[in-house]
Amino acid sequence: MSIVVTGATGHLGRFVIEGLLEKVPADQITAVVRSEEKAAGFAARGVKLAIADYNAPETFDGVFSAGDKVLLISGNEFDKGRVGQHKVVLDAAKAAGVALLAYTSAPGSLSAALADDHRGTEAAILESGVTYALLRNGWYHENYTENLAPVLEHGAVVQAAGEGRISAASRADYAAAAVAVLTGEGHENKTYELGGDTAFGFAEYAAELSRQTGKEIAYNAVPGEVYEGILTGAGLPAPFASILAGVDASIEKGELVVATGDLSRLTGRPTTPIAESIAAALKG
Ligand SMILES: NC(=O)c1ccc[n+]([C@@H]2O[C@H](COP(=O)([O-])OP(=O)(O)OC[C@H]3O[C@@H](n4cnc5c(N)ncnc54)[C@H](OP(=O)(O)O)[C@@H]3O)[C@@H](O)[C@H]2O)c1
Repeated sequence: MSIVVTGATGHLGRFVIEGLLEKVPADQITAVVRSEEKAAGFAARGVKLAIADYNAPETFDGVFSAGDKVLLISGNEFDKGRVGQHKVVLDAAKAAGVALLAYTSAPGSLSAALADDHRGTEAAILESGVTYALLRNGWYHENYTENLAPVLEHGAVVQAAGEGRISAASRADYAAAAVAVLTGEGHENKTYELGGDTAFGFAEYAAELSRQTGKEIAYNAVPGEVYEGILTGAGLPAPFASILAGVDASIEKGELVVATGDLSRLTGRPTTPIAESIAAALKG
């Protein structure tokens, strides 16, 4: 019986493995990865590795065992049919008789196209009858704080989200919630709406950036089409730019405000303030 984490070499997955190592012996943790090389650090610490790819169902043969607790971290290959990819993991987990399949989803309130794959995956999980936990992760701070270069260069946070607010939190917060679910009791067939304790708007975000950098940084709220044009101009493929503009439209409507308190309740601590994530990003 193991705790098995897919996408373990991703940003979120690495935090999850670190969190698990603080709570359970390394030999009870399996990291499912595509690249053994990328996961060498885990293996060196005694974490078991399984090499598998969401695009190749046969690679999941034997990865899961009866009684395992599995975290399926959603993939990032938007052009490859993520629902089908996630079903590969779901089918293998169900066939093995796992005790729990936790899935990193998106807030139930998010109507943007980005959430379609998550809705599809959730439906497949519910239909399968497997014991699940839905971790409906809100937005990461890092979606913004890892992209500060153009903001600092132009002195502007450019988004198409109007005065919309967002309950973002750090990746480490969401990872800690996943660790709590994987190592705790009573999470069977639960759905958690996860978000930061304090919602903020982009004007506040820009003001905090100004405060910490000592530079004048303003929020420039632009229409969705303008934002899409800026993103494609910066080299983003048009379909992805459209998806991101859709997310901003959802933010303007308040769809990324998550006020359940589920995240801090699961982790047992307040979520990371955006000011802290900005400070970490500026430090580099
Ligand atoms: N809530 C948010 O704000 C937010 C923002 C961005 C993304 N997300 C979602 O949350 C997930 C985790 O976030 P993250 O920051 O950790 O993303 P990430 O760093 O891009 O990690 C994605 C992980 O998925 C793995 N993966 C992708 N395609 C795969 C495949 N075909 N087979 C096996 N593994 C595959 C990657 O493997 P490799 O390590 O081998 O590349 C990587 O470990 C993302 O994939 C995305 O679905 C959420």
